This record gives sequence, structure tokens and C-alpha cells, in this order.
Amino acid sequence: NTIPVIAIDGPSASGKGTVAQRVAQQLGFHYLDSGALYRLTALAAQKQGVDWSDESSVTRLAAALDVVFEGETILLAGEDVSQSIRTEEMGYGASKVAALPAVRDALLQRQRDFARAPGLVADGRDMGAVVFPSAPLKIFLTATAAVRAERRYKQLLGRGEAADLAAITADLEARDERDRARAVAPLMQLPDALLLETSNLNIEQAVAQVLAWWRERA
Ligand code: C5P
Repeated sequence: NTIPVIAIDGPSASGKGTVAQRVAQQLGFHYLDSGALYRLTALAAQKQGVDWSDESSVTRLAAALDVVFEGETILLAGEDVSQSIRTEEMGYGASKVAALPAVRDALLQRQRDFARAPGLVADGRDMGAVVFPSAPLKIFLTATAAVRAERRYKQLLGRGEAADLAAITADLEARDERDRARAVAPLMQLPDALLLETSNLNIEQAVAQVLAWWRERA
């Protein structure tokens, strides 16, 4: 289809979610948080007592996810799970279920359905490679592991949660390694993606760069 898509991929806690949301706001585009779908699948499995490595059962849950996105609020079977999918545990669970090929297939069309006029900003790990391969703008948004750990640390403290910087750094690195090493849709910078290294940029500067690249293309 001809709906314009900005695909933003990158490792966890790189800030791509925040940047993608703000770019979408600025352009009046829709926004897809693809990671949320994997987190929701992990949460649904946990609620049903399904093991995260049980591919056929997890796939059935992914295909049947009853989810509603209402701005910042995410409802799973009518229950507000906006906060409960954001825990480190669900990040871990998401990366487990995301390594299962049938689960990724089950979520593919649901992600593509987000591409509606006037356009979409999508963030994740395989937006440019798999879900929206013909996106006119693909960005690989990253920062050093130390900077990303620091960002996640501040985010957790901001939410009033206990946080340990060393543990967060270790978790981030383990999750990124799993996302990079997996056989299906591994995290990587595509040859046709522009690199946005944000270690020394604030959110406004990162948003401005994405918008500048988009204007060059439009
Ligand atoms: O982006 P977020 O941290 O919410 O994603 C959680 C996990 O979901 C990632 O670590 C990754 O394993 C998986 N994921 C994925 N493909 C995407 C988005 C997320 O495999 N497009």
C-alpha cells in the first residue's frame, strides 16, 4: 500500500519509543509500538499459565490477543495493562516469545493494519526489515549501552520503582544479545537505514533529526 511509513528500529531503552511517538504527533501520523504486542503476548501467556517457550500455545494467544490501544492506554481483554506490560519481567518475556517464528507471523498482519492515512511511525526491532520493508524512511536509533541503562534507570526511578543500575545494564545487554542473535528478524541496522546515534542528543534533537530526514524525502 502507499501509506507513508517511518520505520524506527533499535535496541531497548534507546529512546526510540519516545522519539517515534513525538514524530507521529508532529506529523499527525498514527503510531505503532510493536514491542507492546510482544509484551502483551508475554503477559497473556503468564495470565493463562502458558510457558513462554511453548510455541504453539503462545502463538494461539498472540493470534487471539484482544487488545485495544487508546492513546497511552492499552487494554488487554478489557483490563488496563498499560503499566503491567512495562516491567523488566515482561521485557524479558517479550524477548522470549519474540524469538518464536510462529508468534512473529501471528502478529504480522496486526502490525501492518496500523498503516492508515495519513501515515504511520512504527518502532521496534524489525519494522524496516520485515513488517514495513518498503518504508520510505528507515532509521536505526541507538545509544551506547551505558547511556541506555542510565535512561532506563531514570525511567524506573521516575515511576517510583526500585532500580539497580548494574542489574539494569546486565539485563539490557542480555536482552539485546538475544534480539541480535536470534534466527528470525534479528535486531540489526539495515543497509538502507539511517543511523541515529542519540548518546549525545536529547529527545528534541533526535525528533528534529527524524523530521529533517522526513522532509528531505517528502
Ligand atoms: O521495544 P520493547 O522493549 O518494548 O520490546 C520488547 C521485546 O520485544 C524486545 O526485546 C524484542 O525481543 C521484542 N520485539 C521484537 N520485535 C519488535 C518489537 C519488539 O522482537 N518489532
